[in-house]
Amino acid sequence: MNTSLIILAAGMGTRMNSDLPKVLHQIAGDPMLVHAMAAGATLEPQHTIVVAGHGAAKVTAAAQEFDENATVVVQSEQLGTAHAVDQAKDALAGFDGIAFVLYGDTPFVSPETLEEMLGAAEGADVVVLGFEAADPGRYGRLIMEGPSLERIVEFKDATEQERAVTLCNSGVIACKSDLLFDLIAGVNNDNASGEYYLTDIIGLARARGLKATAVTCAEAETLGVNSRAQLAEAEAAFQARARAGLMENGITLQAPETVFLARDTIIGRDAFIEPNVFFGPGVTVESGAHIRAFSHLEGCHVARGAVVGPYARLRPGAELQENTRVGNFCEIKNAVVAEGAKVNHLSYIGDAFIGAAANIGAGTITCNYDGVMKHHTHIGARAFIGSNTMLVAPVHVGDGAMTGSGSVITSDVEEDALALTRAPQVEKPGMARKLFEMLKAKKAKQQRGS
Ligand code: UD1
Ligand code: CA
Repeated sequence: MNTSLIILAAGMGTRMNSDLPKVLHQIAGDPMLVHAMAAGATLEPQHTIVVAGHGAAKVTAAAQEFDENATVVVQSEQLGTAHAVDQAKDALAGFDGIAFVLYGDTPFVSPETLEEMLGAAEGADVVVLGFEAADPGRYGRLIMEGPSLERIVEFKDATEQERAVTLCNSGVIACKSDLLFDLIAGVNNDNASGEYYLTDIIGLARARGLKATAVTCAEAETLGVNSRAQLAEAEAAFQARARAGLMENGITLQAPETVFLARDTIIGRDAFIEPNVFFGPGVTVESGAHIRAFSHLEGCHVARGAVVGPYARLRPGAELQENTRVGNFCEIKNAVVAEGAKVNHLSYIGDAFIGAAANIGAGTITCNYDGVMKHHTHIGARAFIGSNTMLVAPVHVGDGAMTGSGSVITSDVEEDALALTRAPQVEKPGMARKLFEMLKAKKAKQQRGS
């Protein structure tokens, strides 16, 4: 069955008290909107339409960064959820299949739930996602007659009896695309809010003798974010689920509550994660890697057998091959550390290739930036870079070469060569003792005088 997504993301989110549109506030390193798009993407939709309004330019950029084929339509005035969905009508003209309405501020609807709705859409004209609410509050209520969904009543418009219903509307709907827009054409704004309610399409469908039904999910999936406090709750809920998921998949988290994961973090079985590790977006850690305490990783790949940290920072483009070591206070950015190479202490490696089994001495820096442009450093296999070497890029150090500690390397070093740029050592016998005596005498004289 063909599907398309309509993701509502026009609201201002007044209670966020923010210049940023609500749907761009992040959970686990990605905007909420991206979480909703990613869940919907598992349906392999033909079209993804994002309905933007407040902050449309920023919303467009975020939507298209995640999915360059996403179409953004602008709802310039927020007249209600039916009006919002109707903005996608032209973009979906000619589309023959099921349209899913999702919400940019409801990030946790699961792919499994969407699949279940798609299944239900084979036997019903309109499928609504409902949930049993612990506190039904101001949610719309699903009015069922057996398996048939008769209508949805908004809290503001509900009678006492209807408010007693605990089966609530998540807002997510699946409906044949042309039927959806046909039903929306019949929606008016004659209600307590003066808005065009998408929820009204259920009553309209039933009046035509069409079938409507509800699929239910856990309330945790329908969690919506309206305030910073709810954003923090959503983050906590995401982290708790993601940590539990990793442990189920055979990853050790020594102190799970101190490890922070991104939406797309991938970690292989038998990896070992020590306390206080932060994963930003785009990280893959292979089986058996060991991430030690207080490390910060984003946009990087760590292969099996690698040991990272404690206190390591892996930035985007860091590629640690098998059995590598990146130790304390080392920063790696846009660099390959080839098999078995070691960068163990106090180093910056950026825009570089570190050859297999090379050893990078403490305090080594690739000077990659000349103030205007970035340049590349190549270190050959088995090279030994002495402590406190400055590698002024672009520069190439051959296989098996060595640099003397404290050297500033500005020219290429050929393989197996030793490069030294230090001033030669001078030794003056007895001079240290004479100097100390002179200085002590000076201090004593000063103290007598004062
Ligand atoms: C809506 C449902 C309600 C459901 C609840 C779940 C309707 C009429 N009511 O109520 O039954 O229980 O969601 O959270 O649909 N939006 C737009 N453009 C608009 C209006 C809304 O893009 O013109 C977006 C909002 O940014 C938001 C979403 O649609 O992301 C829901 O709108 P909101 O006004 O919050 O609806 P609720 O009153 O919460
Ligand atoms: Ca809402």
